[in-house]
Amino acid sequence: MTETPTTEALPTDFPAVRPSGCPFDPATGYAALRGHQRIAKVATPVGVDAWVFSRYDEVRKVLADPRLSSRVAPSTHVVPGADLEREVESGSILQSDGERHAYLRRLLTSEFTVKRVQALRPRIQELVEEHIDALLAHEGPVDLVQAFALPIPSLVICELLGVPYADRAEFQERSAVLVSVDKPEDEVMRVNEELGEYMAGLVQRKQAVREDDLLSRLITRSEEQEQPLTIEELVSIGITLLIAGHETTANMIALSTLALLRTPEQLDALRDDPALAKPAIEELLRYLSVVQFGVFRQVMEDIPFGDETIQAGDYLIAALSSGNRDERAFPDPDQLDLTRKASAHLAFGFGPHQCLGQQLAGVELYEVYTRLYRRIPTLRLAIPFEDVEFKDNTLVYGVKALPVTWDR
Ligand code: HEM
Repeated sequence: MTETPTTEALPTDFPAVRPSGCPFDPATGYAALRGHQRIAKVATPVGVDAWVFSRYDEVRKVLADPRLSSRVAPSTHVVPGADLEREVESGSILQSDGERHAYLRRLLTSEFTVKRVQALRPRIQELVEEHIDALLAHEGPVDLVQAFALPIPSLVICELLGVPYADRAEFQERSAVLVSVDKPEDEVMRVNEELGEYMAGLVQRKQAVREDDLLSRLITRSEEQEQPLTIEELVSIGITLLIAGHETTANMIALSTLALLRTPEQLDALRDDPALAKPAIEELLRYLSVVQFGVFRQVMEDIPFGDETIQAGDYLIAALSSGNRDERAFPDPDQLDLTRKASAHLAFGFGPHQCLGQQLAGVELYEVYTRLYRRIPTLRLAIPFEDVEFKDNTLVYGVKALPVTWDR
């Protein structure tokens, strides 16, 4: 296999830069890569080379391959200086393989069933309505990220984990620091530690008094399985749920609102027809692929690919954003079309680690899409589109702020 023609189009340094024209489109080089060569070896910021998989069907196939390991965190490839050999916490579902992963996933799956997630819906509706009320109580333009997109998912996770009401404001402030882009690193580290300590205290309280929440049920379920989770493992699960569920959903809410404001005819259609909300969620997830640099894996046994062999020990990136724009899977893929049947998209990953919280994310997005634009029909950007700043370097793509306004 020759690499020259397409790696010129796909910058060999990963992450590849988005084209200047449309901030919703992934790096231009992916289209060329999908066309001929399909995979390419790129240099990653973490300091190792990795094979990028670009086509929809091949991303799915490789992510389902048991010869891959997830012990490297899904986004380590874009974290300069990250330690690839770092010992993995035993409670980390994202970074476990095989039996251990299957055990943790089994313990958690029943927390994310359709039934369990539906039970959270009324509370999510309340949260969305309350936050719209608070928006409407404002005088001037409001940053939709801070006032709406960030707090809702964080409060939903409070509900899920059973964080007492009295602690929620502080919990939410801390989780906002963790996902912020402008806080100094020492503050982020301090808050990370504080959240770890808070979560350990919460777990201990649940161990003493079981309540009707995820952490309590996990403790009981793991005891029944005679493999009780330790405090450290439960803390790791709690923090993973917070991070995995907060930043992703928050960025989706703000970025998709911006994408809809840019395509007013689609926004009008969504506002007029609530039945469009479900396909719209899938299409916006596909179109925006907020886990922008894809997921990272290490290859444990040789995997032949065309004339190449991806060798044991090599690293691999499944480019979810590229697969989601593959013309073989989605005709006219760069077009946002809310009526498209896009539910087989890759935004939640694929294979054994496919997003556990996808039903929950779906309910949160549904309640936002069917309420926000109807209650504020004149919602619009308060600054020129060209002045919106995008998060080009963070693991989850989005906007840094979204100043919006409306007619009173
Ligand atoms: C729009 C919102 C979301 C997006 C785009 C998203 C995306 C993803 C992706 C791409 C993965 C796969 C990672 C990999 O293969 O290494 C993943 C895994 C995961 N997500 Fe989400 N996610 C979202 C919301 C949520 C929510 C709301 C929760 C829960 C509160 C959640 C919990 C998880 C967990 C626990 C995993 C790990 C599953 C495993 O390793 O078996 N996610 N997510």
